[in-house]
Amino acid sequence: MKIVIASDHGGFEYKTMLLPFLEALGHEVTDLGCRTEDATDYSDYAIPAAKAVAASEFDRGILICGTGVGMSVSANKVRGVRCALCGDLLTAKLTREHNDSNMLALGGRIIGPETAKAIVAVWLGTEFSGAERHSRRIEKIGAYENGQDF
Ligand code: RB5
Repeated sequence: MKIVIASDHGGFEYKTMLLPFLEALGHEVTDLGCRTEDATDYSDYAIPAAKAVAASEFDRGILICGTGVGMSVSANKVRGVRCALCGDLLTAKLTREHNDSNMLALGGRIIGPETAKAIVAVWLGTEFSGAERHSRRIEKIGAYENGQDF
């Protein structure tokens, strides 16, 4: 898959670790930064990455900050993005099956490195179930994004 990855300083170490891991899994990875551990603003990295996923420039996106919260909140402001903050394997699996999440957020200061790698592998390896109830719920999010009131 074509994957975009980005972090702030709180996720820089894990981004650096995940890049070769993703490439070893056979994915084509584009790194949108940050480039050092100097303090940065997560929104500066999350939003460009999310826009690129929403524009179908990439199949999926992975975002990492200290908690994963700033990255996920920012990415979910972009129309068409469903970014799931995951700290465990079951959530990683179910957010693909149920939400068809197209972006994954991780907390580099929250989970261990092996857990991060396992979450990434499960999230990338799980398909959307396609069940009508899940499609319907996702379509309602899209309808809200396109102006329908609830
Ligand atoms: C940076 O200190 C930290 O606030 C950021 O990485 C992230 O955890 C925000 O949600």
